[in-house]
Amino acid sequence: MKAFVFQTYGNPEKVLVQQEVPMPTPAANEVLVKIEATCINDYDYSMVTGKPVLYRLMYGWQRPKKKYQMPGMELAGTVIKAGQGCTVFKVGDRVMGDISVHRFGTFATHICVPESAVKPMPDSWTFEEAVVLPHAGMLAHQGLDGVACLKPGSKLLVNGAGGGVGFFAALLSRQNGIELTGVDTKDKQAWMKQAGYSHTLDYAQTDFTRTGERYHFILDCKTDRNPTRYLRALHKNGTYVTVGGAPTKLIRLLLGKIWIEMFSTKRLRLVVLKPNYNLEMLLSKVTRKSIAPCIEGPYRFEEIPSAMQHFGLAKHKGKMVISMQHDSRSTGNN
Ligand SMILES: NC(=O)c1ccc[n+]([C@@H]2O[C@H](COP(=O)([O-])OP(=O)(O)OC[C@H]3O[C@@H](n4cnc5c(N)ncnc54)[C@H](OP(=O)(O)O)[C@@H]3O)[C@@H](O)[C@H]2O)c1
Repeated sequence: MKAFVFQTYGNPEKVLVQQEVPMPTPAANEVLVKIEATCINDYDYSMVTGKPVLYRLMYGWQRPKKKYQMPGMELAGTVIKAGQGCTVFKVGDRVMGDISVHRFGTFATHICVPESAVKPMPDSWTFEEAVVLPHAGMLAHQGLDGVACLKPGSKLLVNGAGGGVGFFAALLSRQNGIELTGVDTKDKQAWMKQAGYSHTLDYAQTDFTRTGERYHFILDCKTDRNPTRYLRALHKNGTYVTVGGAPTKLIRLLLGKIWIEMFSTKRLRLVVLKPNYNLEMLLSKVTRKSIAPCIEGPYRFEEIPSAMQHFGLAKHKGKMVISMQHDSRSTGNN
C-alpha cells in the first residue's frame, strides 16, 4: 500500500515522502479500512515539523522514534477486512472518524484501527463531506457545550474563526439567534461572513480583549494571552472556552481558573477533545449542503506534502480535504 512517511522533522514538502509499505493485517477487534478521504490538521503539521518542540517529547527529540512515522488522523473509508471478534462492522461498511487516540497514519491508502475507533458513515454523504466532521466538528460541538442555553441576541465570539472549528462553531450556534463575531486574518474576513459571522475582526489590527465589547461566550482556537485579558472581554456570567493555543498560556489558564472561579461569576474552560464522542448527534445537526463551504479542495493524495505546507503557511480556509478518488482539478471546488 502507499503511505506518506517522514524520518526527520522539517518542511513537509522536503521531509514527507511517499513510500510503498506492507499492507497491515487486522488484529482481533480491528478493521482494515480502505481510506477514501482524509484531512490535514494542526497535529499533522506540528508532528512533521517538530514544532512546537513539545511534540518532540511525544514523537522523538532529534528525529521521530519510529523509523517511518506516519501523520494523518481523520478518515472516511470502507471496511475491507474485519479481524476476529468484530461485531460492529463488516466488509463493505462505510466508516468515518478521528483515530488520533489510537494511532496516526491516515495519509495512506489503508489502515488498521480498532473498530471502536470509527463510526458508521451516512450512506447519502460522500467521503469528502464526511471526513471534515470528526475532528473540527467535534471540537466545536464539545467546545460549545452550554451555548444552547444562551438567549437570542447573546454575543458569541470565536477567535481563530477562519479554520475548521470556526466554521462549525458558526454553523452550530447561528440557528439560536446568537450574534456571532469571528476573529482571524484579513484574508479570511469574507470567508467568515460566508460561514455566518455577522461581525468579523482582523486579529492583526484589533485586539478583541481591548475593544470594550463584552461577550457572553468566547470560543478560542488560539489562546495566546493571559486569562485576565479574556475575563475583561466577558459579560458578568460569561464563559471562556479554549480548544487550543500556546501551551504556556493554556497552563496559566488551568492554574488561574481555580482562583478566578472562586472570586468571579465568569467561567473558564479548557476542552480536551473526546474523539468521535456523540458524532451521531453532530451528524443530526448538520446537512451535506451546510458543510459544503467548509471543504477546501479536495486535493489529490500525491499533493499531501504541498497541501500540508499550504496549511502551515495558514493559507487554508476551513478544512483541507484529501481525496483518494478525485483529481482536485476535476471537482472545480478548489
Ligand atoms: N482540545 C483538544 O483536545 C484539541 C485537539 C486537537 C487540536 N486542538 C487545537 O484546536 C485548534 C483547532 O482549530 P482548527 O482545526 O480550526 O485549526 P485551523 O484550521 O488551523 O484554524 C485556526 C485558525 O486560527 C487562526 N489564527 C492563528 N493565530 C491566531 C491568532 N493569534 N488569533 C486569531 N486567530 C488566529 C488561523 O489563521 P492564520 O494562521 O491564517 O492566521 C486559522 O484560521 C488548534 O489550535 C489545535 O491545536 C485541540
